Amino acid sequence: MTSSSPDIRAVIAGTGGYLPEEVLDNEAIAARYNLDTSDAWIVERTGIRRRHLAAPGQMASDMAAEAARAALAQAGIDVSEVDAIIVATATPDSAFPSTAARVQAKLGVKKGFAFDISVACTGFVYALSVANAMLKAGQGRCALVIGAEVFSRILDWTDRGTCVLFGDGAGAVVLKAEQGGERGVLSTHLHADGTHGDILNVDEVAGVVRMTGREVFRHAVSKLASVVDEALEANALDKSDVKWLVPHQANRRIIEAMGRKLGLPAEQVVMTVDRHANTSAASIPLALAEATRDGRIQKGDLVLMEAIGGGLTWGAALARF
Ligand code: UT7
Repeated sequence: MTSSSPDIRAVIAGTGGYLPEEVLDNEAIAARYNLDTSDAWIVERTGIRRRHLAAPGQMASDMAAEAARAALAQAGIDVSEVDAIIVATATPDSAFPSTAARVQAKLGVKKGFAFDISVACTGFVYALSVANAMLKAGQGRCALVIGAEVFSRILDWTDRGTCVLFGDGAGAVVLKAEQGGERGVLSTHLHADGTHGDILNVDEVAGVVRMTGREVFRHAVSKLASVVDEALEANALDKSDVKWLVPHQANRRIIEAMGRKLGLPAEQVVMTVDRHANTSAASIPLALAEATRDGRIQKGDLVLMEAIGGGLTWGAALARF
């Protein structure tokens, strides 16, 4: 049933993260895969020091379900209340059933709907946007929005230019429809330009990630800067209103550039790339989970999220926690 109301706000009621047990630092990954690289190069160019890798047989839906359980627990919401599950992933368990449907079964959710979104590293922002719009349209009152990735399964472990950059993990938020109030998702801003599909893609034959890093970097800096402006302008907000920047975690240099653009001190920019590497669609919800659990993000704080990824796709979301 749908019952649209302009006053409905999709409030982030809980967050959760899951990281697989195995942790490999830069030296360990170089040694394991016999890579011509160094800890110094990786840290200087990316900020990455280590990453988590899924165990053999551990799937995106396994990690997604763990993150979702943690988010529901933090929100104090029972699985029986969940109406919708949206999973952003570029590494689904299989083409179908969707990873979201598998999560539904693993959690024991008995009602509602579930589907995946495939938008690479921008996936969480897209999923949040879709979930927000659906809740505002009355299509459910409680949604799990999850980013879950096992990028380790789609990496070319002989390509030092990509394989050191990614990690596995999952993050989730519980979105709850509330009537009125100040809290909730304020707006989302989505973009795609398929003409740049070849600079960051999964090779159709080999099935592994290929990236022209420098080109992606160039697009990232300009497109993220412009979508952040777009988000602030749409809400008549100034950059000084932003309490926390929670960016997609691909590269410390890009994250710091965005922090400088917003005039935010480093303490107000949530950074996990050093410990998680790039977990694609999982990186923003993992960072949200960390920063809500350690007490940084508080109720009422204005949080700006932004991401860019394969497609190219990019986007931003503003939410008051
Ligand atoms: O999540 C989706 C969005 N993705 C991104 O935002 C990623 C954006 N791009 C980047 O973060 C950076 O471009 C990289 C970290 C991927 C690469 O850094 P860079 O400063 O742009 O380096 P580069 O690709 O221009 O490569 C510089 C040199 C090259 O050697 P030559 O040609 O100058 O001799 C590479 O072969 O570094 C070499 N290189 C490495 N050396 C040691 C590339 N990867 C490695 C490595 N270890 N792992």
